[in-house]
Amino acid sequence: MPSPCLYSITTEVISMKIGIVGLGRVGSSTAFALLMKGLAREMVLIDVDRKRAEGDALDLIHGTPFTRRTNIYAGDYKDLKGSDVIVIAAGVPQKPGETRLQLLGRNARVMREIARNVSKYAPDSIVIVVTNPVDVLTYFFLKESGMDRRKVFGSGTVLDTARLRTLIAQHCGFSPRSVHVYVIGEHGDSEVPVWSGAMIGGIPLQNMCQICNRCDSHILEEFAEKTKRAAYEIIERKGATHYAIALAVTDIVETIFFDEKRVLTLSVYLEDYLGIQDVCISVPAVLGRHGVERILKLELSEEEMKAFRESAKILKSAIEEILA
Ligand code: 2OP
Repeated sequence: MPSPCLYSITTEVISMKIGIVGLGRVGSSTAFALLMKGLAREMVLIDVDRKRAEGDALDLIHGTPFTRRTNIYAGDYKDLKGSDVIVIAAGVPQKPGETRLQLLGRNARVMREIARNVSKYAPDSIVIVVTNPVDVLTYFFLKESGMDRRKVFGSGTVLDTARLRTLIAQHCGFSPRSVHVYVIGEHGDSEVPVWSGAMIGGIPLQNMCQICNRCDSHILEEFAEKTKRAAYEIIERKGATHYAIALAVTDIVETIFFDEKRVLTLSVYLEDYLGIQDVCISVPAVLGRHGVERILKLELSEEEMKAFRESAKILKSAIEEILA
């Protein structure tokens, strides 16, 4: 154990300044999760409703005796200066039965103002877009801000990948951490489970299905559908999702914080990926302290490639809609 003096210096050096724009249920839950993880020495909360940001700052700061020392305050865009990471969770959430793409018009207007302010006050920060439709708004943020493509990405299908892993893990009796399957494409109705590369403990999932003789392609497709429908089911019951997405965003921030170089299905800008160009969409990306370091090219089955192309086409037409 390093000496207390060295330990405090080490903690001080590696902790970050994090900005959160939009303190709705997702932004507020993310602030709480980040505080619990002790990833920030400073957290600035920005919301169009200043009182909401002030209320969250007070409520969180009163919890800091139970967590790591963190300076949390409500601020304005200028207070983002020097932020290492900025989480964008501002905008309207889905109503029951509403698709994420249906939020585009309202949330694009919000994103334009945020992009201009972030690029003005914190042009070198890493930006994690969470607001839906996250893929299209990540692209829009990049266009409007002109910031570095490696440093601006969306939470994408990180949560969908986690949801699918959880369903398979529960069914097969493993930890989700031992289930390796990706969901790529749109964070939404056209998302694509990549069964061709799915493994549990190094064993291809299809073989595992024979070993545990409890799952077949039917149940895997059922899990994929449940993953796709997850948000709708939760929104139907409690009005919004926010805990799991907040934990997913916190996991992304932690990967940056510790320079973990983990592979996450982030929504990243693709210049030319398997023939798909000029779109933000989720694919496996290596994330570290300075943003996206590499984008991994998957070997997709014909069926997966077809579905991925279709997903990219849907996102590109949504992009054309907001740029028109
Ligand atoms: C989710 O998937 C609504 O995009 C959010 O939980």
